[in-house]
Amino acid sequence: MGKVILTGDRPTGRLHIGHYVGSLRGRVELQNSGEYEKIFIMIADAQALTDNADNPEKVRRNIIEVALDYLSAGLDPKVTTMFIQSQIPELYELTAYYMNLVTVSRLQRNPTVKSEIQMRNFETSIPVGFFTYPISQATDITAFKATTVPVGEDQMPMLEQTREIVHKFNSVYGETLVMPEILLPGNKACLRLCGTDGKAKMSKSLNNCIYLSDSADEVKKKIMSMFTDPNHLRVEDPGQVEGNPVFLYLDAFCKEEHFGRYLPEYADLDELKAHYSRGGLGDVKVKKFLNQILQEELEPIRKRRKECEKDIPGVYAMLKEGTEKARAVAAETLADVKRAMKIDYFEDAELIGEQARQYSC
Ligand code: TRP
Repeated sequence: MGKVILTGDRPTGRLHIGHYVGSLRGRVELQNSGEYEKIFIMIADAQALTDNADNPEKVRRNIIEVALDYLSAGLDPKVTTMFIQSQIPELYELTAYYMNLVTVSRLQRNPTVKSEIQMRNFETSIPVGFFTYPISQATDITAFKATTVPVGEDQMPMLEQTREIVHKFNSVYGETLVMPEILLPGNKACLRLCGTDGKAKMSKSLNNCIYLSDSADEVKKKIMSMFTDPNHLRVEDPGQVEGNPVFLYLDAFCKEEHFGRYLPEYADLDELKAHYSRGGLGDVKVKKFLNQILQEELEPIRKRRKECEKDIPGVYAMLKEGTEKARAVAAETLADVKRAMKIDYFEDAELIGEQARQYSC
């Protein structure tokens, strides 16, 4: 059997360069590698609603933004099936059966859920749907028989929980579900890109993100006002590279070829870093270099977005087609699951025959 990818994003905002280096760029590479039999990318609107129940409009509006970001980053609907989670009712049915295989205390131990509860100040008022979303995520993954789940590091606990559910299901009901593997970005700097202000999380409310859809001017402005080493006041002062957002971004985006094009006086990033640490290299020069690199990477994405924006109905039609295709696969898995659990009564001739014989004597 061939390898199958499933991954996705919550549509709560436009995608930023953290999403891009953490997952999206890799998905496009995986798509173009030709190594995968099927690729499913899901817009997880139902999951987004688990903590936005009072603001469905936000989720509704952002579906198109995420779809546009996908297409402009290079996902190709001829190869990759893009779809909307809430339009596949089979997912909810599967989740209901998986719920019986997971304990409340196991959900409480999920580190991602724990920190999200803290971040959202849910305390004792945690919505049940939110609390159980790791189970629904296990459904997303298993419904499409995914072998490979390319995600950021924060999703590791979800994958662990999914693997436990698969193991449990298969040992109770017989080998049915496919065991998935997580696929993290190879470059460590891409695991978690900090905000332009150096804060660990990029978030819209902190206003510290560079979006894929930002104009060239916006990107430049954001880069030129990025935080650096606060003690690097004069050019000749020694600067700190570790934890310096500008260098963290260079770690994620810079390739050796960029030096030839934009900064030929250095051979590579190590040399640039050494000069900064030694003193004598100003922030502005490094920021300008980062800007050139980012513009080079983002320009084709912006161009494709402009094209796609001209045909919004076409984007919805693409999602609809993808959703129909994805739904057929989820329905197949649901049938497998019901067969394994022996709750496919009407198709179970053996059960009906046996009971008929039992009652006829
Ligand atoms: N939890 C993911 C996020 O917050 C989105 C998501 C939902 C997902 N279902 C998934 C990711 C299944 C990978 C696989 O971005």
